[in-house]
Amino acid sequence: MKIAVLGAAGGIGQPLSLLLKNQLPAGSELALYDVAPFTPGVAVDLSHIPSDVNIEGFTGDEGLAKALTNASVVVIPAGMARKPGMDRSDLFKFNAGIVKSLAENIAKYAPKACVAIITNPVNTMVPIAAEVFKKAGCYSPKRLFGVTLLDTLRAETFWADTVGFGRGSVRIPVIGGHSGSTILPIFSQALGYDSVSEEQIKSLTDHVQNAGTEVVNAKAGAGSATLSMAAAGARFALALVKGLSGVPGVVEAAYVEGGCPEYAPFFAQQVLLGKEGVEKYIPVGKLSAYEEANLKNMLDTLKADIKLGVDFMVNN
Ligand code: LMR
Repeated sequence: MKIAVLGAAGGIGQPLSLLLKNQLPAGSELALYDVAPFTPGVAVDLSHIPSDVNIEGFTGDEGLAKALTNASVVVIPAGMARKPGMDRSDLFKFNAGIVKSLAENIAKYAPKACVAIITNPVNTMVPIAAEVFKKAGCYSPKRLFGVTLLDTLRAETFWADTVGFGRGSVRIPVIGGHSGSTILPIFSQALGYDSVSEEQIKSLTDHVQNAGTEVVNAKAGAGSATLSMAAAGARFALALVKGLSGVPGVVEAAYVEGGCPEYAPFFAQQVLLGKEGVEKYIPVGKLSAYEEANLKNMLDTLKADIKLGVDFMVNN
């Protein structure tokens, strides 16, 4: 199976490519694309790792076409990152055009690929890609995903530390979107919920919602989360590959269209991944009163983020 990474030479793209080079099944092909002219060099560097994954690096328009042709999975970490004081939505004006142009090329060269978008603001970039694919006549909501798994990784880490479980031993659903209040961890469904106070739940929720900003501030102007985001992107790309290969029972969270239309057209939730992309939307399930209230309060923001993407495509 061929996997393409668009934006492969950047802060997320390089560690993501490293993880994929090491973890993709033997016989996979990994195509790295970036506007940075040294991208073929990133591939040469990674090619010295003795995993059975063939890797090639590309740049330029022709390179993008070559990277995408025959790809079954396309992961997009391309674009600009936040600096302190910026919100993810401030990246819209820089990244909307980038995602639009990459999606146009995907429609041309890999119209059947599963596409996973990391570029921020995810809440808006995914609807932009959906509109591009609709215009090109190749849209399937089952094959388009916003990567929200970093919120899951954070919720799982912070929960394990609070409850005293081993890290990596808990699963926490995170629903909604990928910015501020639209990130909603569902701790009420987690093992150990009864041992945690309401105050702790509020503080954990706040921590997950602001964890991206915590990294941006800690990096003090040098960007946002790259390594943990690469881990999240790799985990999601590997889940897509497993699902497409027919491995049963692959469930991960992602921002998708159509699973919870009663909340918003696009919504992050757990999905079962199969040979065609989304096989089943997993219902959100029972929420606590606190989570219900947070869900209700964030929907206007999420819907406005989605509308921004749809409107951008009407005007461009
Ligand atoms: C994150 O959650 O860390 C990323 O979306 C990057 C950011 O700007 O917060």
